[in-house]
Amino acid sequence: MAKPQLALLGGRPLGPVKPDQHPRFTARAIARAVKLLEKGMTVGLGKHHPIIVEAEEAIARWQGVEHVMVLSSGHAALQMSLVGLEIEPGDEVITTPYSWGASTSCILHCGAIPVFTDALPDTGLMDPATIEPLITTRTRAILPVHIHGQPADMPAIVRVARRHGLAVVEDGSQAHGARVAGKRVGRFGDASGFSCMGFKLLGTTEAGYLATPHEDLYWKAALCCQHMGRSPDPGFPKRLLPFVDSLVFSYRLSPVTAVLLTEQIKKVDREIDGRRRNVARLRGLLRGSSVLSFPAYRDDEVPSYYTLSMNFDAAAAGVRRETFQKALAAEKVEVGSYVPAPIAHWERLKTHGYAGPKTIWTKHLQAAGADYRSQRFPGCEAKIKKSLDMDWNYIGDDPGRMRRLADVFLKVEEGLPALRDWERRQDRQAPAAARKARPSRREVLA
Ligand SMILES: Cc1ncc(COP(=O)(O)O)c(C=O)c1O
Repeated sequence: MAKPQLALLGGRPLGPVKPDQHPRFTARAIARAVKLLEKGMTVGLGKHHPIIVEAEEAIARWQGVEHVMVLSSGHAALQMSLVGLEIEPGDEVITTPYSWGASTSCILHCGAIPVFTDALPDTGLMDPATIEPLITTRTRAILPVHIHGQPADMPAIVRVARRHGLAVVEDGSQAHGARVAGKRVGRFGDASGFSCMGFKLLGTTEAGYLATPHEDLYWKAALCCQHMGRSPDPGFPKRLLPFVDSLVFSYRLSPVTAVLLTEQIKKVDREIDGRRRNVARLRGLLRGSSVLSFPAYRDDEVPSYYTLSMNFDAAAAGVRRETFQKALAAEKVEVGSYVPAPIAHWERLKTHGYAGPKTIWTKHLQAAGADYRSQRFPGCEAKIKKSLDMDWNYIGDDPGRMRRLADVFLKVEEGLPALRDWERRQDRQAPAAARKARPSRREVLA
């Protein structure tokens, strides 16, 4: 039988393969939120509000961490984790260059200096072997990110931190429920920050939470970001009373969103299991692929699949990744590349010749002598070059959907000879555009 023609070349698309709606709220969650709106109960100032306390206790039980503060965003939770550790201007925090910017901007917004490790080439997770050479007398903390729902190697990272007396702050925004060494992420660090904005695994509207085993850190964070530092709450330490005022970041969470958190957490494990089952099916169906591969995980590493991150072998395929993505898009399956460049090389982290709007960190970085442009990140750059990342809202148990998704990938793979010709034709027709699509040596070094 003749191979079906690629949609990019005029054939019929095999997709789309419809994901599930996410987030989805139960009737009870919606009714509870509506009731709060009807009663005008839109503000909760801390543990005296029953809805705030309910959400914080539910998350604390689920995370297995004693102290939880619900906040307005994941960025707020990370920044306040650092504030609770009393990170100051000039302090250094070691983090990863393969992430969403918030895991770096939370450091910059404390006036502190981000120092970047390399990332592992298959997963994009912080490479623990590259931490130790970066430690100086100014280093205060290590901030790994559980990117794409994959757990970072927390046992290794915590070992380095303990050896050098450093704090650990986990960014679990993309990885609620992911496990490593038998524990959920967010249970290893001195603090962790999670985003609960609508796209996230524990999705609401806009929200986040800080989790910490340290009561002291919790109150110092509250002092700086909650209404009057949450000082009327039970347990507020007397020694902090003289410092209570309204000189705070306003990072409160409305009870209208807090009640959604309480209700969403009841089904998050079920949803994550569904995501995992669907990934397992797709992996099985694509086992024979010679151009697509999935990161390998140790037995004790269990991702929760916020996104599905795969790796593309351009040499084996004989086409650029972007061409493969275009062919998938024509089949109506959108697969992106999440991180555009190591964060350290982003324009707004330039310390010399920066021409954009003023930032609150450029002078701090200059004073610290930070020069990220000359630093290379071979593992991170390798991941960026080959990563194929897909939103993964495939939650419901429907093997037929995974079969259809696999068929799309396999159709494009079978169509590679035709795709190579198409790419060559494109390059001949628009050589300038093609040169641009291929990162030049200058861009890689920029
Ligand atoms: C890894 C990571 N960290 C932090 C954040 C920040 O979360 P938020 O948007 O809720 O501030 C996000 C997502 O938005 C994220 O993906």
